[in-house]
Amino acid sequence: MATISLEVNGKARTLDLPDNTLLIHALRDHLRLTGAHMGCDTSQCGACTVHVDGMAMKSCAMLAVQADGRRVTTVEGLASDDAPLHPMQQAFHDNHGLQCGFCTPGMVMIGLDIARRHARPDPSTVRAELEGNLCRCTGYQNIVAAIVDGAGRMETRP
Ligand code: FES
Ligand code: FES
Repeated sequence: MATISLEVNGKARTLDLPDNTLLIHALRDHLRLTGAHMGCDTSQCGACTVHVDGMAMKSCAMLAVQADGRRVTTVEGLASDDAPLHPMQQAFHDNHGLQCGFCTPGMVMIGLDIARRHARPDPSTVRAELEGNLCRCTGYQNIVAAIVDGAGRMETRP
């Protein structure tokens, strides 16, 4: 067993869990944050994407103990108190960037990471950046449009 202390969505949390617990299981099973989804067993789908110290990470490919002392943000932690949706989430809504929604939390989190690293990402940049995030429904067109739009909204945010 291990005891870890981390910040999750702005709150300090301490967890006792088996050493081999994956971060996604710590989030979903111990903290009941079920926004990050387990979509594969091979670290390929990206549905589990969260941010660790501000960078997108696949939470199925990281042990919870590796998050000890770090800052984790899940899709549940994006919206501020005065807005129901983060601008990137609103862009997904407005561009119909989802169908079943299973991949969507991961797409939003990688979208934010893309926006952080590219001031004005063009569609081809977004498509290349999405190589680690799979969607079985949409054909990606509206996801790409949503991320381009969302990145633009974040740029104009005060
Ligand atoms: S569940 Fe993490 S990449 Fe698929
Ligand atoms: S919207 Fe269904 S998997 Fe992407």
